[in-house]
Amino acid sequence: MQDLDLDSVTEAVIEQMATTPDPRLREIMEAAVRHLHAFARETNLTPDEWLKGIAFMTAVGQACTPYRQEFILLSDVIGLSRVVNIMHDAKGREAAGTETSLLGPFFREGAPKIPLGGTLANVSKGTEIMLYGQITDSEGKPVPHATMDVWQTNEDGAYDLQAYDPTTMDMRGQLQADAEGRFHFRTFRPLGYSIPMDGPVGELVRNQARHGFRPAHIHILVTAPGHRDLVTALYFADDKHVDSDTVFGVSQSLVVMPSTELPDAPVKGMPSIRYDLTMSRETAEGGGRVGSDPSKLVPGGRVGSDPSKLMPAG
Ligand SMILES: [Fe+2]
Repeated sequence: MQDLDLDSVTEAVIEQMATTPDPRLREIMEAAVRHLHAFARETNLTPDEWLKGIAFMTAVGQACTPYRQEFILLSDVIGLSRVVNIMHDAKGREAAGTETSLLGPFFREGAPKIPLGGTLANVSKGTEIMLYGQITDSEGKPVPHATMDVWQTNEDGAYDLQAYDPTTMDMRGQLQADAEGRFHFRTFRPLGYSIPMDGPVGELVRNQARHGFRPAHIHILVTAPGHRDLVTALYFADDKHVDSDTVFGVSQSLVVMPSTELPDAPVKGMPSIRYDLTMSRETAEGGGRVGSDPSKLVPGGRVGSDPSKLMPAG
């Protein structure tokens, strides 16, 4: 019979778990136990606080539905999703490759195909801007005919799934770059938006006196044979939350600002953003679509019947 103290209990747990046949499961659980025990020791966690933590995690689980993933939201607001994405990128993205962002829950297959120069706006109204640029590989060679999916909120800060019934697609589209990898399209300036604040994660964010907002952004997914899917987003420099994104998605290299002064703008005088996208080669590490579809976490789940309840973390 072993007498356990504050330190030896950690070793006893790890010793008992050493029978785990799957080496990766063994490694992950050992590290989890070490860090959780250290966390409890460091904070001098009391029984009341331990119970409060369990009640919180229970509430997070109970807030999950096929249309809402409160655990992903929790992971997002404590920066864990960003940590995992950065590590994933370090393995699969070439140094020159455009920085990535999470795909988020508002990507939809089958967005309307729009021609080069066309607009994402279907029913929304707003201040028109143009986004243009060139898609190349990391050596600067054009990626011809790459497919681009683009989606964003409207000027009220709502995605189509939130603003309309699921049959309406708006402020999203799919276009194909030309033989030189060049693209241009019209859209409206998006507005930033709040993460869902009506659940336990929202309550936590409020208790931390955080605002809960994401800065205005345009999501982009670029695919081309032989290249790693590029999932990124462009953030607007003048959004007041650009330096304090609640889910930590912003990188400096992805911050943009429309200008009417760009000499090569396809439409003179229209506020335009030039942003060139650099794809990485396909690798065995898999694609860049991180966190692609929260519904995959639900047995048999496929978001679709009521996407208006989707979790707007991305
Ligand atoms: Fe988003």
